[in-house]
Amino acid sequence: MPNKVIIIDYGSQVTQLIARRIREAGVYSEIHPCTVKASDVKAMNPQAIVLSGGPASVGSKDAPALDTGLLELGVPVLGICYGMQLLTASLGGRLAQSTTREYGPAELTITKECALWKDIAHSSRVWMSHGDRVLEVPEGFSVTGKTPTLDVAAMADEKRRIYAVQFHPEVHHTDLGTDMLRNFVFNIAGLTPDWTMSSFVERVVAEMREKVGDRHVICALSGGIDSTVVSVLLHKAIGKNLHCIFVDNGLLRAHEVEDVKTLLSDNLDVNLTVVDAAKRFLDKLKGVDDPEKKRKIIGHTFIEVFDEEAKKIPQVDFLAQGTLYPDVIESISAKGPSAVIKSHHNVGGLPDTMKLQLIEPLRELFKDEVRKVAQELGLPDSLVWRQPFPGPGLAIRVLGEVTEERLSILRAADEIVQEEMRASGWYRKVWQGFAVLLPLRTVGVMGDDRTYEHVIALRVVDSVDAMTADWSRLPHDLVAKISGRIINEVKGVNRVVYDVSSKPPSTIEWE
Ligand code: XMP
Repeated sequence: MPNKVIIIDYGSQVTQLIARRIREAGVYSEIHPCTVKASDVKAMNPQAIVLSGGPASVGSKDAPALDTGLLELGVPVLGICYGMQLLTASLGGRLAQSTTREYGPAELTITKECALWKDIAHSSRVWMSHGDRVLEVPEGFSVTGKTPTLDVAAMADEKRRIYAVQFHPEVHHTDLGTDMLRNFVFNIAGLTPDWTMSSFVERVVAEMREKVGDRHVICALSGGIDSTVVSVLLHKAIGKNLHCIFVDNGLLRAHEVEDVKTLLSDNLDVNLTVVDAAKRFLDKLKGVDDPEKKRKIIGHTFIEVFDEEAKKIPQVDFLAQGTLYPDVIESISAKGPSAVIKSHHNVGGLPDTMKLQLIEPLRELFKDEVRKVAQELGLPDSLVWRQPFPGPGLAIRVLGEVTEERLSILRAADEIVQEEMRASGWYRKVWQGFAVLLPLRTVGVMGDDRTYEHVIALRVVDSVDAMTADWSRLPHDLVAKISGRIINEVKGVNRVVYDVSSKPPSTIEWE
């Protein structure tokens, strides 16, 4: 196993960023809820520990406490924000409680050199978000930094290798934050960067091979990056004992089925079954226009079809899933403090009756790391940089009833959007860009004739995590080109509108 930094989560909204920054530096790090015991952390054999920020006030009712056993493990500790306050209170320093929060940028001045400040400018911009503050540092500590409003913005006990900062080095607004975290893992903990995606692939393939042995695994492919990477990793590990099932629900974009077949089956020789279930899905969706009903029908039908296919494979022991690290954190900190906002409703779970063991080769990875693994595995850029596509597919972009005819209008319009976004270089600059078919018709003219036809909405958004989003300021010429092509090339459409709403209060999808 590579080196490991353990982050104890006291509930800050940005705890995940600490893990990401440390991993970006090439050191593996994982987050554990603050209820974890020091003895359990010891068993994980970390080389360094970070105490995260959090919304509580030390000493108040229900405020998470520090297991001081963490300070006895002989590894360096970095306390951030609430982590610094916990260290102060637990080691005999003094805090000032406050009802108001200091939030935003501040100018940090280094008042005493220490290993955390190696090559850090004497003064730099940092990002604050705190109420309480340190009045008096514990015995053995020195004040190492201040800001105009805080006499103790950082402190250190270099002998015990305990460091603490009141600001957030993990956020981008702290100019030298990444350098400070690098100083912590390299200069203080003495680690080497050994977390690379090629070492990950090697290790995970070996682990999967060991775990599965000569048994069999099934995997539902969606055409997206996560399930594709899972399949390719497992194919490397167990070859033909992996059975991939791709359900063509008839709600996919143009060429998706062929693309999946070409990549996995033709090029990589993965054991793949493509099930043509388009008619079955469309039959069930007949007459349904309520978005949640559509989602439910699609989810249930998917499970039925997948279940039927799985039963055709003589002996299956494992189900492979593309669970990522943020999902893992979300479930482990279910009771813990990190107020992670639930991410999206994916297409159903599988029936319990299948009694399969789960195998989740990506559960250690963030999304950007999955992209790196995909590149490492030689997968094409079109897949590596593919924009998110919802499980219910085009059904939630055909507003109102989903019919074959309406789907084909939307599919043709969507193909033009995808082509033009890629050709202009905008595809990778935005979070998502797609067409929506509205449930109405408007009047137009074509030659001498009056037309009464469909409207396509163009939805293109910028976002970092889909929780919030803003409409993308595409160049007018690009919008004109897309709209011109859709109206000229897609029969049945005589109007295109551009969606200029942000999320919240709107959502990215229209249904
Ligand atoms: P909204 O519309 O909620 O979408 O702003 C946020 C992100 O989630 C995707 N999305 C879905 N993904 N099943 C999915 O797998 C769904 O039912 C679903 N609905 C929305 C959406 O494309 C965006 O990336």
